[in-house]
Amino acid sequence: MRAIVVYSSKTGFTLKYAKKLSEDLNCELLSIKEIKTRNWDKDEIVIYGGSLKAGLIRDLSHFNKTVKVNPDHLVVFACGLTSREDQVKIQEIKKANHLENSPFYYFPGGVDYSRLGFASRSLLKMICQSIKKDPQKDQMMAKRLEKSGDYTELDLLEEMIEQIKSKSRFHEINVE
Ligand SMILES: Cc1cc2nc3c(=O)[nH]c(=O)nc-3n(C[C@H](O)[C@H](O)[C@H](O)COP(=O)(O)O)c2cc1C
Repeated sequence: MRAIVVYSSKTGFTLKYAKKLSEDLNCELLSIKEIKTRNWDKDEIVIYGGSLKAGLIRDLSHFNKTVKVNPDHLVVFACGLTSREDQVKIQEIKKANHLENSPFYYFPGGVDYSRLGFASRSLLKMICQSIKKDPQKDQMMAKRLEKSGDYTELDLLEEMIEQIKSKSRFHEINVE
């Protein structure tokens, strides 16, 4: 197999997408915690997925510094609470994470307050209050922040899987 899915997930929502991707592409699944123990092959396709934290994709910059992936072979996805309809915000996320030239996908995640520490819980509650005060802001995100909930939609991976398969055919990399 010449593709790998690497993920960084705090409470398991990004992991759900990463697992499904690795199953559908029949390839390896690796936690960010294991990246240093692996031999990297510069010809493989690397799919990196991380949850959003203050607009940044969790551990993406650590991953890029540690593993020098061929930019042509990197595909990134983020998982968060921003509405998928908010395309302006999604383009901002892409830019803030220096992904202007990479295939980038955004998927809805979830909240699990029982698995977050005091600081994260307090921060999310504060973000929720500040969004609610401004009707111009993403009210769906505020609603989702009110309590624990799972908003993942694994069917959204279909388009990404098709594009990775056609990319692999283009680079003559076997992921099927
Ligand atoms: C401290 C913190 C900051 C967050 N910042 C953002 C954010 O900027 N944008 C967003 O859409 N979601 C944000 N979220 C929501 C997470 O990205 C969301 O809960 C995600 O599904 C968590 O996935 P995980 O369980 O794989 O880590 C934040 C969550 C936490 C705990």
